[in-house]
This record gives sequence, C-alpha cells and structure tokens, in this order.
Amino acid sequence: MNLNILVLPGDGIGTEVTREAVKVLRVVAEKWKHQLTLREAMLGGIAIHKTGDPFPVETEKLALEADAVLMGAVGLPEFDEWPPEKRPERGLLGIRKAMGVYANLRPVKSYKALLDSSPLKNEIVDGVDMIIVRELNGGLYYGTPRGIYEDGPEPRAVNTMAYSWSEIDRIARVSFELARKRRRKLTSVDKSNVIETSQLWRRVVVEVAKEYPDVSLDHLLVDNCAMQLVLNPKRFDVLVTENMFGDILSDEGAVLAGSIGMLPSASIGAKKPSGVWTGLYEPVHGSAPDIAGQNKANPFGAIGSAAAMLEYSFGLTEEAAAVNRAMENVLNTGRVTADLKPKGTPATTEEVGEAVCQGL
Ligand code: IPM
Ligand code: MN
Repeated sequence: MNLNILVLPGDGIGTEVTREAVKVLRVVAEKWKHQLTLREAMLGGIAIHKTGDPFPVETEKLALEADAVLMGAVGLPEFDEWPPEKRPERGLLGIRKAMGVYANLRPVKSYKALLDSSPLKNEIVDGVDMIIVRELNGGLYYGTPRGIYEDGPEPRAVNTMAYSWSEIDRIARVSFELARKRRRKLTSVDKSNVIETSQLWRRVVVEVAKEYPDVSLDHLLVDNCAMQLVLNPKRFDVLVTENMFGDILSDEGAVLAGSIGMLPSASIGAKKPSGVWTGLYEPVHGSAPDIAGQNKANPFGAIGSAAAMLEYSFGLTEEAAAVNRAMENVLNTGRVTADLKPKGTPATTEEVGEAVCQGL
C-alpha cells in the first residue's frame, strides 16, 4: 500500500517524539512492504518564527494532499502573552478545521506495568479501557461571535458555543459505530441541565441511538462525569462529548493511563475517494518546553498515534496491532522514560523508540 504522510514535528518535544514515531513507520513499511512517502512541513511556533503564520498556506496545501498527517505538538513559551489569533495553538485549530477532522478519538487504557504510575489505587485503574470521542470542529473553540471588546465602559470578552444538528449527528454516529466494535456501551456527556447546546446534543444523540438498538446508551452531566472518571473509570467504554468538555476530560483520563505521555490521539474526517480516511494523528500531550531538547520525553503517545494512523486511515490493523504489542513489550521491560517510574536509570526518548523498532 502507498502511505503518503505529511509530518509536522511542531514545537518543543514534538520534534523529538515525532522522530521516533517516524522511525517506527519506516520499520513497518519495510517489514510489510508498503511504500512510504514522507513530507515535512511547519506548524505552530516554529512556523510563526519562520513565516509569521502558525499555519502557513504551504502547510495547508501539503496537509490536504497527504493521505494522513502525523503531528508532534505545538506551543512555545515566548508566545504566552500573545492574543489567541496569533498563537501557535491557532495553527492546530486551523489544521483541524481545514482537514475537517471532526472526530477526535482519545483511547485511555491502563497498562499493568504502569499501574503504580497512576496516583489512583491500582484496583480502580486496573482494567480501564475506554475511548473518549471529542468533537473537534465545533463548540467554543470555533463559535462566533468571539473576541475581547474594549469599546464599552469596561472590557468584555465573548465566546460562543454553537452546534448544529448535523454536527452532533455525525459525531454521534462515529461513536455508536466505535461502540459497536467494542463493548457496545456509549456514554454521552453534556451539561443539559444548564446550556441549550447540550440540550440539542442530547436530543440528537437519543435520535441517532434508535438506529443502534444493540448499543446501550447513557447520559452523564459533565461535572458528574469528571467525578466518575476517577471514582469508577471501568464503567466507561466509549464516551462522546463536545470539544471543550472533551479537552478537559481527556487530560483527566491521562491520570488513569499513568502519564499524559502515553496517550495517542486520532482525528478523523471524511473518507477519501481512494478509500483512505482523512486523519490527523497527534499525541495528547503538549510541547513541554521544560524538558524540550533533552531526549527525555516519552515517545509512546506519538508512536501510539502512528499506530492509530495505520489502523484508522489505512485500515492496516495487523501492522497497528504489532506496533501496539511492541510498545507494550517495551513497557514491560521497565526501560522507559522518567515520567513512567522506570526500573533503574530512565531510558531516553531515542532508546525507547529504538526498542520499539527492535521489537518489530
Ligand atoms: C489538545 C490541546 C489543544 C486543544 C491546544 C494545544 C490548542 O490541549 O489537543 O488537547 O485545546 O485542543
Ligand atoms: Mn488538551
């Protein structure tokens, strides 16, 4: 198969973890005889430094031409005081929208070898296996009007949470389909006791559910969901929620996995005429400027994202499973990065990537 991939290393540790994920893709391509075509472009802080734009036109063009995009992380501390529309993060929001990747899948799984890395009791975490489906193209992140208004008696800021029926319908369908391939349980998370977007959200999800009688559906309010995630995380199979709620809950989910460095993500859009699914793959973690350039970031989130790309964009389930197995084997050796409580001295980013390649 032809794997036509755009790589966006981004900022901070993004470049380091992406390098390891690319190595893994090369090994997979060689072993399973796929043709790998890699291109690279800029996104985020590095793109601002080089071009003045966090999401340059050239990057957009290459992203739309590629079958799938592998991204590191964006964000640099020198832009902390900049307004939202000029920040590196805006590049990420731009590419998510431009590619139309509306379904962000964030699997949260506990690994035996990492049970002690979570601050939660082992018996709460052991056996956790869920996917958070975060709506990624709507809600507060994109709604208008938005802005800071300084024309009145005092500054005023506005953001808008808006969802249309069809935006909710399509993300609900992705979630029901996913649940069907798993334990057939879907939890929809909203704040329908207070906000209208959540009321519509719930109405649409209930409507779509009629087409999936084999999937059991329940609803949780987002505040209660935040609590249930740490009280009883095993109750979740697939969880679907709007953009901002999903952003917050998925960081909380990271506590279950032991380290945010473990979490991969897949953002899926439409199916292309070639049969490949449009996809943007990125670890859930950020650019971590505090440890950037030190070869100590955990590459599993990025490598897991590459595995997700093989699975969701290209349908290469065997290859994806092999990568996930190789990662788990490395985890079990205890030769892992500092965030995972390694046995002995922590492994470097490169050593972990190398070990996964060897395993393959
Ligand atoms: C994430 C990140 C991004 C988001 C930031 C960097 C814009 O936190 O992917 O979860 O809020 O979506
Ligand atoms: Mn986030």
